[in-house]
Amino acid sequence: MIFHVGRLRKAAFLATALLTAACTAAAQAAPYVMFRDPSCGCCHKWAEHVRAGLDAEVTVREDLPMEQVKAGMGVPMALVSCHTMQVDGYVIEGHVPAEQIERLLREKPEGVKGLAVAGMPMGSPGMEMGDHVEPYEVIAFGDFGTRVYASYP
Ligand code: CU
Ligand code: CU
Repeated sequence: MIFHVGRLRKAAFLATALLTAACTAAAQAAPYVMFRDPSCGCCHKWAEHVRAGLDAEVTVREDLPMEQVKAGMGVPMALVSCHTMQVDGYVIEGHVPAEQIERLLREKPEGVKGLAVAGMPMGSPGMEMGDHVEPYEVIAFGDFGTRVYASYP
């Protein structure tokens, strides 16, 4: 009997340990999928910034028209940029700094569906042009509409 209880305890402990390990691995390996238009160049520089900043693997897809991707993911028209990324159920539109993606995944703010940097501001990650930095905002969007999530520089 004692032997059986011991085995059950051990089995339960192992199951918990395995689940914990699986969850941790899932969080670290959340798939980053970037959709882009094959004719655009700046996306690759931004993807490198995300890979380095978040220690993430970024899968690149070029098989869908970008209007279809953006409409399907609910990117507000006013916030459209070039590439669109999906991670952990969120939408990342345009040249959003990696540190803000990390913050989004950590804070998971209520009602936020994604972050966007509209257009292609000079000096945003992947859009570096010497020292020139055009001030820009990272906008959070969701059912509430939009709000400023961060401002640069
Ligand atoms: Cu771009
Ligand atoms: Cu691009």
